Amino acid sequence: MDYGKVNTSAAKTQIESFDKSNHLFDLGLPNPFQLLSDPIAFFRAAAEAQGPVARIQFGSREFVLLNDPKIIEELFIHYPSSFEKFPRINRTRGLFGEGLLTSEEPLHLKQRRLAQPAFHRDRLSDYAGEMVAATTRLTGGWKAGETINAAHDMGNLALDIVSRTLFSQQTDSQAEQISAALDEVVKTLNHLVTPWGNLLLSIPSPLRNRYRTALKELDAIIYGFIAERRMSAVEHTDLLSMLMNAKDPDTGMGMPDLQLRDELMTIFVAGHDTTANALAWTLYLLSQHPQERKLMEEEIDDVLQGRPAQMQDAARLPRTVAIFRESLRMYPPVWILGRRALKPVETPLIQLRRGAIVLVSMAVLHRRPELFENADSFVPGRNEPKDRYAFLPFGLGSRLCIGERFAWLEGVLCLATICQKWRLDLAPDAKVEPQPLLTLRPRYGLPMTPTLR
Ligand code: HEM
Repeated sequence: MDYGKVNTSAAKTQIESFDKSNHLFDLGLPNPFQLLSDPIAFFRAAAEAQGPVARIQFGSREFVLLNDPKIIEELFIHYPSSFEKFPRINRTRGLFGEGLLTSEEPLHLKQRRLAQPAFHRDRLSDYAGEMVAATTRLTGGWKAGETINAAHDMGNLALDIVSRTLFSQQTDSQAEQISAALDEVVKTLNHLVTPWGNLLLSIPSPLRNRYRTALKELDAIIYGFIAERRMSAVEHTDLLSMLMNAKDPDTGMGMPDLQLRDELMTIFVAGHDTTANALAWTLYLLSQHPQERKLMEEEIDDVLQGRPAQMQDAARLPRTVAIFRESLRMYPPVWILGRRALKPVETPLIQLRRGAIVLVSMAVLHRRPELFENADSFVPGRNEPKDRYAFLPFGLGSRLCIGERFAWLEGVLCLATICQKWRLDLAPDAKVEPQPLLTLRPRYGLPMTPTLR
């Protein structure tokens, strides 16, 4: 399946006109509308037109889209210190502040070491039970034949899982408020890639007001977790306690509250919005490929024999894993990575000037015909690409997703638990189109009808 309503030829014409002349954009009036309205089509066309390295100039800003795994490896693995993360939010601390996703070295490494133990293999087995239980709770509320919004339900499921496993909290009653606030913040954050993004947040406007209100609501949730834990007499070993009890080895001091808030918010959001979309896209793809769905159901029945899934089952469900993997290839929840060159970079494979913004769009890379045969087709278990860095749903290098193993386990156990009992079909009138915001979401939700198997 192709990316919904993609007008590649329009985007291509636009790219070609960038190549021919930049004078429109030199006036400081970039034309990022196409970039905003359909960025994946825009970048796909850029990759098609220019190949491994697509250079796109907006006024004084140079974007360099990398479409070649070797060049990606070169910059992200061998030259990470030449770059900072892009975009950065200058005017406000924003959603993530200086949390793991957005902080720079040396803070990033120090904080990553503190959070890492929560994602060790032995901790995952504690989480597996919660993942299965949460899925059973959710699907217990489904009624055969009654249409659900699977995107919304997967959001609530992933939120429930991250809250219970890493924060020992139940957020069920606040789930609607959290997802509405998050939607608002994410929509605003999307403007930050534009030249006027920071400006938008610095002048009074309804958008800024809604953004600030939503951010306050999310802050209240996170500070609520901290306050409750401080008052609690119960010993916890979760990520929340791990970070709250962490002491700086040099100073012996605990983490300042603001830093703690940034780390918790980052994991809270990054840890559920991503897996939620991965699960939603997988359910969608299964509904479009009944033959694959049948094979997966057979595997699940065979392995589980009617009992609830457990941690060890994840390794016994290769078909389910392959389906989840193929979904991450076709609809990567994190669809783009950005870095800004802090200095001129010159390697045997590429040259960049200081300030150039390097982009890797997994939504583009994972569909490159040179890397994946029949790249637009859903082929679970397809041949691995020969380049290690052709498939990057979890990023790479020092900023590789800390929750990768958590996400694989969650993806496979949730799918197995859902598909053990239910078969989900796309509602007949459903319109499905990817919306690339902070994550790649189904733009109109995902109306699906569950039937009991
Ligand atoms: C299918 C699910 C997921 C996908 C596709 C995904 C994808 C990614 C990607 C691509 C990055 C790298 C971003 C960059 O380099 O700019 C990343 C980083 C990160 N992810 Fe995930 N993620 C997923 C699940 C999770 C989960 C479950 C958690 C936590 C519970 C998590 C927490 C994080 C954090 C904290 C970072 C920043 C790591 C660092 O910079 O050191 N993610 N993720």
